[in-house]
Amino acid sequence: MKYSITDGNLNDLRTPCLVVSLKTAKRVARALGSTAIFSRASEDFKDSIEQSLCVNLSGNVARLLVVGGADESMDADKFRKLANNAAVNLLKLPVKTAIVALDSVKVTGERTPWKAATLMHAISYNAYRYGKHKSKPATPPSLTTVRVHVNDKKGTSSSARLGNALDAGLAFSRDLGNEPPNVCDPNYLLKEARKLAKHPDVSVSNLDEKKMAALNMGAFLSVSKGSDKPGQMIVIRYNGGRKADAPIALVGKGITFDTGGISLKPGAGMDEMKFDMCGAASVLGTTKAAIEAGLKINLITIVAAAENMPSGGATRPGDIVTSSSGKTIEILNTDAEGRLVLCDALTHAQTFKPKTIIDVATLTGAVIVALGSKASAVYANDDKLANDLLAAGQNSGDKAWQMPLWDEYQSSLNSNFADMANIGGREAGSVTAACFLSRFVDGVSWAHMDVAGSAFMGGSAK
Ligand code: BES
Ligand code: MN
Ligand code: ZN
Repeated sequence: MKYSITDGNLNDLRTPCLVVSLKTAKRVARALGSTAIFSRASEDFKDSIEQSLCVNLSGNVARLLVVGGADESMDADKFRKLANNAAVNLLKLPVKTAIVALDSVKVTGERTPWKAATLMHAISYNAYRYGKHKSKPATPPSLTTVRVHVNDKKGTSSSARLGNALDAGLAFSRDLGNEPPNVCDPNYLLKEARKLAKHPDVSVSNLDEKKMAALNMGAFLSVSKGSDKPGQMIVIRYNGGRKADAPIALVGKGITFDTGGISLKPGAGMDEMKFDMCGAASVLGTTKAAIEAGLKINLITIVAAAENMPSGGATRPGDIVTSSSGKTIEILNTDAEGRLVLCDALTHAQTFKPKTIIDVATLTGAVIVALGSKASAVYANDDKLANDLLAAGQNSGDKAWQMPLWDEYQSSLNSNFADMANIGGREAGSVTAACFLSRFVDGVSWAHMDVAGSAFMGGSAK
């Protein structure tokens, strides 16, 4: 989808589809001399949230798409619903382009740029299709360009650029997540990451298993050694900021398939473990969006890509490995593999002297028990960073909730044989996983997001 921002008198615009509230629709219909047609067509329309009506007119505006409930004031969550309804119904129409004019909606605490961003996000979210592996893919929506109409352009100079960047980043993430695990393996993630290096401010490198062995990444390698597919530590550098600016580091869990290893998972639903690289997909999409938006920051993105398989070469429960930090780990469950690849990735991230590290991982089933699919868990050693992430979640509707990273939980990782075990007990599984990661971060602001519940959908919504 391509977005632009437009202003000016709605009555003067020419478009195959204008998306508006009922009040605005009446006004525009009157200006076009179509009051009679519009009144007749909207007679039975219920003007409430999640309702919509499309009226075909003639003249400069070929269609009016009326969005229900848009003449009331509302909170941010309700506007998101309204935007979603507008997007879903707009995407059903046989139009290549449209003008969305919903800036008149009063949203508590939010201004025009937020409304524009929310509308663009709703359209991108709903326009996405994944039909690559169907011999006859369903026809995609015909909409390709959208003008977002604002009453006042103030504050919107970067809105279209950000909307377009987000659109590209979202599609990149979702394509990576949806790709089957026989295609999306660690080398595929590396190949996709390399595409980002077309941009002059971006470079991509990788640590293959040999290089990782030289850096003593025994934790990472204990996971990848069970698979015929070699693991990769992918490093992307984006220099959009000043040379002297310390980078922000993003680290993603990229387990391209998680069988559990020798601690094999049950068969039912195991296909969903192709989504165990969604942390990687998330940081790769974020990186693409940051690049396309031309953000003036330096970014280091690290993807820990490996496949967790059982084989004659796989790690056994009871094995002890040494991470690149020098700390030793007794692997009591090979299905707790995410933390093993991430601990070496976190150690590597710190060699770039970042000012902040954020890792994103489908790390535990336990976080789904705690928060379901509606929120990601945030853990941080820095409350300012945690609050920034929570605020970003509120702002975008991709919500997060802070969980404790207290010392009291650390002892569950005690091991009789090594510096630590890779699992805690039955309780607080997402917290103890975060505690494990915290042991590999030293003197830098860091947050961990457990997105096992929020990253992907199951069942028929898969
Ligand atoms: N990839 C899983 C976590 C997961 C579960 C993600 C469900 C998405 C949906 C992770 O590697 C895992 O298996 N974790 C174990 C940890 C346990 C062995 C301590 C879990 O959650 O059961
Ligand atoms: Mn696992
Ligand atoms: Zn996993």
